[in-house]
Amino acid sequence: PREALQGLLLARIRDVPDYPKPGVMFKDITPLLADPAAFEALTDALAELCTRHGATKVVGLEARGFILGAPAAIRAGLGFVPVRKAGKLPGATLAQAYELEYGTAEIEVHAEDLVPGDRVMVIDDVLATGGTAEASLQLIRRAGAEIAGVAVLMELAFLNGRDRLTPTLAGGPVEAL
Ligand code: PRP
Repeated sequence: PREALQGLLLARIRDVPDYPKPGVMFKDITPLLADPAAFEALTDALAELCTRHGATKVVGLEARGFILGAPAAIRAGLGFVPVRKAGKLPGATLAQAYELEYGTAEIEVHAEDLVPGDRVMVIDDVLATGGTAEASLQLIRRAGAEIAGVAVLMELAFLNGRDRLTPTLAGGPVEAL
């Protein structure tokens, strides 16, 4: 049941005050990753979301989305595609800039990794302002692929990231475990 999973996961997420800067409460998932039962339960739950929403491919967002997305993709029998911060991928890429609180950031994906006919689940650890996830949805759309949804371990609901995704998702799911 969902409550049991949430209890297992929440007990292994550490709140770190004033990190990386004053006033921010950082959600540290390393205790969860170090616990094989909790990590496996999370992996199974993310894989089940991929299957439920008909995904044929998983996109993981650097860096913690790689750690959570890759095993979930394998568990669901799907390929994994990394969306990286700009300048890290050697091949031809699609790039997408997005707004941060101060300034802008840019993410990239290998153009050949997302193609028409793919149906993509985006996986990350945290949905905060939604800027990173929204930029990844734009990359998927520009590649001509379909979006299965966004699945995260945690949603910081007070930042309204879900609302930022709504126009692009057009009714598609945002799943926060
Ligand atoms: C964090 C988090 C998400 C993103 C969420 O990553 O892991 O990817 O921020 O924030 P947003 O919804 O406001 O875009 P971070 O930028 O810290 O990168 P890292 O995982 O590479 O350290």
